[in-house]
Amino acid sequence: MAFSPTNFFELTMFNSQILELFVFQYLFILLCLPRLGFCAETDTITRNLVLKDPDTISSRGNVFKLGFFSPDNTTKNRYVGVFYNVSESTVIWVANRDKPIPGSSGSITISRDGNIVLMNGESEIIWSSNVTTSSVDASAHLLSTGNLVLRDDSSGRTLWESFGHPSNTFLPTLRLIDNINTGNKVVLSSWKTPMDPEVGNFSTGLQALNIPQTFTWNGNRPYWRSGPWNGRILIGGQEMYSVYTSGITMVNYPPGTFSFGVPEGKSLMRVTLNSTGSLVETMWNDHTKNWDTTWSGPQHECDVYGTCGPFGSCNALSSPICSCLRGFEPKNSEEWGRGNWSGGCVWRKPLLCDRNINTSSGGKEDGFLRLSYMKVPDFAEQGPPRMIEECRSLCLLNCSCIAYAHDTTIGCMFWSQQLIDIQQFSNVGVDLYIRLASSELDGQKDKKLIIIIPVVAGLVAILICIFIYLLLIARRKGAKEKLDTKLYEAGQTYPSDSAGIVIKDDMDKVNLEEFPLFTFETLANSTDKFHDDNMLGKGGFGPVYKGKLADGKEIAVKRHSAASGQGMEEFMNEVDVISKLQHRNLVKLLGCCVEKEEKILVYEYMPNKSLDLFLFDPSHPSQKILDWKKRFNIIEGIGRGLLYLHRDSILKIIHRDLKPSNVLLDEDYNPKISDFGMARIFGGNKDQANTGRVVGTYGYMAPEYAMEGRFSEKSDVYSFGVLMLEIVSEKKNTNFHNHELSLSLLGCVSQFVFFPPFSCVSNIPQDLINDNLYQAWKLWNEDNGLAFIDQTIYKAEFQREMMRCIHIALLCVQEFPNNRPIISTVLAMLSREIVDLPSPEQPIFAEKWNRSHVTSSQMGVSINNVTLTMLGGR
Ligand SMILES: *[C@@H]1O[C@H](CO)[C@@H](O)[C@H](O)[C@H]1NC(C)=O
Ligand SMILES: *[C@@H]1O[C@H](CO)[C@@H](O)[C@H](O)[C@H]1NC(C)=O
Ligand SMILES: *[C@@H]1O[C@H](CO)[C@@H](O)[C@H](O)[C@H]1NC(C)=O
Repeated sequence: MAFSPTNFFELTMFNSQILELFVFQYLFILLCLPRLGFCAETDTITRNLVLKDPDTISSRGNVFKLGFFSPDNTTKNRYVGVFYNVSESTVIWVANRDKPIPGSSGSITISRDGNIVLMNGESEIIWSSNVTTSSVDASAHLLSTGNLVLRDDSSGRTLWESFGHPSNTFLPTLRLIDNINTGNKVVLSSWKTPMDPEVGNFSTGLQALNIPQTFTWNGNRPYWRSGPWNGRILIGGQEMYSVYTSGITMVNYPPGTFSFGVPEGKSLMRVTLNSTGSLVETMWNDHTKNWDTTWSGPQHECDVYGTCGPFGSCNALSSPICSCLRGFEPKNSEEWGRGNWSGGCVWRKPLLCDRNINTSSGGKEDGFLRLSYMKVPDFAEQGPPRMIEECRSLCLLNCSCIAYAHDTTIGCMFWSQQLIDIQQFSNVGVDLYIRLASSELDGQKDKKLIIIIPVVAGLVAILICIFIYLLLIARRKGAKEKLDTKLYEAGQTYPSDSAGIVIKDDMDKVNLEEFPLFTFETLANSTDKFHDDNMLGKGGFGPVYKGKLADGKEIAVKRHSAASGQGMEEFMNEVDVISKLQHRNLVKLLGCCVEKEEKILVYEYMPNKSLDLFLFDPSHPSQKILDWKKRFNIIEGIGRGLLYLHRDSILKIIHRDLKPSNVLLDEDYNPKISDFGMARIFGGNKDQANTGRVVGTYGYMAPEYAMEGRFSEKSDVYSFGVLMLEIVSEKKNTNFHNHELSLSLLGCVSQFVFFPPFSCVSNIPQDLINDNLYQAWKLWNEDNGLAFIDQTIYKAEFQREMMRCIHIALLCVQEFPNNRPIISTVLAMLSREIVDLPSPEQPIFAEKWNRSHVTSSQMGVSINNVTLTMLGGR
């Protein structure tokens, strides 16, 4: 938000009392002649501006208006609300919902105590924002998002906002909130009827208990349930699986405050809770000048909460829609037969594991029935993020556990009460495992199976033996041809002599069957025998070449020299990790080649090479190409790539060496994270690990990692913060300094330095001073963040966004990992779903790089300038 005329006026008023008077008279007389029925294009109400029926104010960009309306288009019952400019009858927020003003005598202004007030003709207050303000200098602004915000003019603090008290409409950037600690909730509430904005029976909000879900309630009873949030989608909605739900976020920030929202988009989108309890998502269609319905819920009787009662399952495609889960029978068969399913079902045979007497062995006699494509029941409890087999054993051993399910991001889900609101989807959903007595599971077929199984098993065994024998013979004969075929497919054009291929024993870990193999010859041909002219860069592990396959496809070939630091372990690690990952912000591995001593990786080619060239290489012709918009896009892209690594991919991955030379840019300057050779894959249940071998690049490494080898997703967040600062300032983070400069920077203040046996004078030459970090912190605290920004990209209109980036980056580089936000929070801050940012703590500016167990000769450790051009353009 830059300096618009409105802001300019605000600033001026703020600065000078005399000007204030003048400006207001000017505004009043020239722009705002209410009696004549027209008003300024202003988005602000101040104490000196009275908005009278039928005046309006408009948000910047003219999307929303604030003014008076009547639902039935008469002038009898007047309400104040926010509505769309293109469709004035579409009201998104109402102030005086239960107190209409009869006739058109109403007016809005800011009261003496700094509240927004609505008054009738007799100057009685009909409605007020009703906050206790200490400030009298408050003004109300209609933001371009449709949010009406009351601000303290002197501090800029938000005192009240209409998005904190929504009516029946959910909009981009509005956040449904459930604060577990304070009980504060932000919910939508329906109108009583389409003509009456009074608070109706239905409400929609977030329930953060256990795993967060959104609900529509009818009074206190749940009416519709979205299913749990899995970090990407709400898994109880069939349609959620098929749409690309970009941008929907659920954030737990500050801790205990869950909020749900979508970022501001280009098109006009809203979700309205109508008076009969349906959530209806609509988009404005500029051609038809109408709202197109894109989604609504509940859509079917099955979507209505608990239609089939406890242990009943609803299937929209069957008739009747309700049935008892297998192993269960209707509680009241008479009512059930009549189509009254609310009573639900009960176990046909009791479980062996008595829920009241929790024996350690009893549970083992029960089993689980798998139901595929399900909407999971309500009241899921989140278990540890384990593998599905572990969910099973955890559930089996605990007699209270009557069902479990698994989602890759949520982990284990357990149920211990009744199972309610279960739905059978047609081809998406979760596998739900329900505990049943084993006799229910095996059924009658078991006895026959006892005879059949050995017979079948015997036959199968014989067949397998014959098959293996034939296979061995065939292999010996045709091994060569077979490999040829495969390589032919992988290399696409080159049939090859496979004799050189040595697949070593340590490759067993990686399933290379699924993975394209290139022959050495193919790659040598494509790079003109690894000619120097084709070299893109040279890193610690060996050179990277540009190659062109016979079909014209460009590739980047990373050749790990035999003498390179990277051993077989790292190599296989990289292959293993990257081959499992797919994300638009991660570089794509196309294949590999392992031949004799050669270890080669083949990546997609990135025409714009790596980010460091654009930021730090003064000779690069296109260095100034990255304007702020591109840079912000790069920051967000890297963040999304990291989020995928940390959270969304099947595995949890810590990159450990995030820096500009590891960020490649495609033709549209979209960032792609590369170089996973050092990435560490975590078991799902581990959040932090120690390593005796610190790999990474100083300056980007979080202190706890560099010093103690402790790494976690927070150490990647640290690197991301450093990277953000570099992108904003266009200065490299780590610089060697001469003694004097270091001293002056550090000021020899011991609090800056975090390792105990530190003596300022003797150790400084061996430290790397994070100059950029120091500058950012210093200028930020001097309120001079502007001076930190690279002047070639500075534009006044982006100033706030730039400052915000510095602020967020400083949050990422805080000393203690616990203080740093996780990457999903960082993204929410960047997209302004989280508006208010906490103040950052001071980072650490110096890192020692010659600790005994970390020497630069050690594998993977590289001082920043050495690795600058590494992997320059895969
Ligand atoms: C609410 O929305 C649903 C679904 O679009 C629709 O069937 C119903 O008629 C609407 N109710 C009202 C009162 O408009
Ligand atoms: C449905 O069945 C329940 C008992 O299972 C009963 O309490 C309720 O009155 C029944 N409702 C109707 C409409 O018959
Ligand atoms: C068993 O499960 C219940 C409900 O999930 C849980 O409250 C309880 O702590 C569990 N008991 C054990 C011993 O894990």
